[in-house]
Amino acid sequence: MSSSPRLSGATALLAALFCLSAGCADFSRGDPSPDAGAPPPGPGGGADGGADVSFADAVHPLLVSGCQSCHRAGGAAGDTGLVLTGDVEADYLQATSSIDASNPPASRLLRKAAGAGHGGGAIYPDGTPEYQTLLAWISNGAQP
Ligand code: HEC
Repeated sequence: MSSSPRLSGATALLAALFCLSAGCADFSRGDPSPDAGAPPPGPGGGADGGADVSFADAVHPLLVSGCQSCHRAGGAAGDTGLVLTGDVEADYLQATSSIDASNPPASRLLRKAAGAGHGGGAIYPDGTPEYQTLLAWISNGAQP
């Protein structure tokens, strides 16, 4: 199935005519693009269980954006065991008090975030990238 001289003339003509009216985007097949192996995941993806999921970089931003509106002093969840301040170290202590290292998926923090029996509803439902980040973080020892 390499190039056929007879057809290529007609094809080129058709292509040229088509190009005149519609542009040539589909006719330039010049790129060799081997593109075989999967590219290495970039830094900071954090969704695939990498050991580099840190609280400060990956988890804290999720808690601040998704949870702190209620989980703060004076908020709707200000009288619970999870009261965030926006300070990474203080919030780390709050967050790690409701995780279960021996059974990460059962962690209170994660179940509540996913909406299980949670006054705040499902913020990061099971299987979402944010859920995966939280789970990966807990599974990897809840690093600061
Ligand atoms: C819309 C308000 C709201 C948001 C947003 C919210 N929550 Fe809550 N959360 C509550 C309320 C109200 C309670 C208390 C009732 C209950 O236990 O569900 C609560 C309770 C909790 C508890 C139990 C705390 C304890 O005393 O042990 C955890 C853990 C928790 N939430 C985690 C989260 C996480 C993680 C997020 C963000 C992903 C979040 N919540 C977002 C309202 C919210």
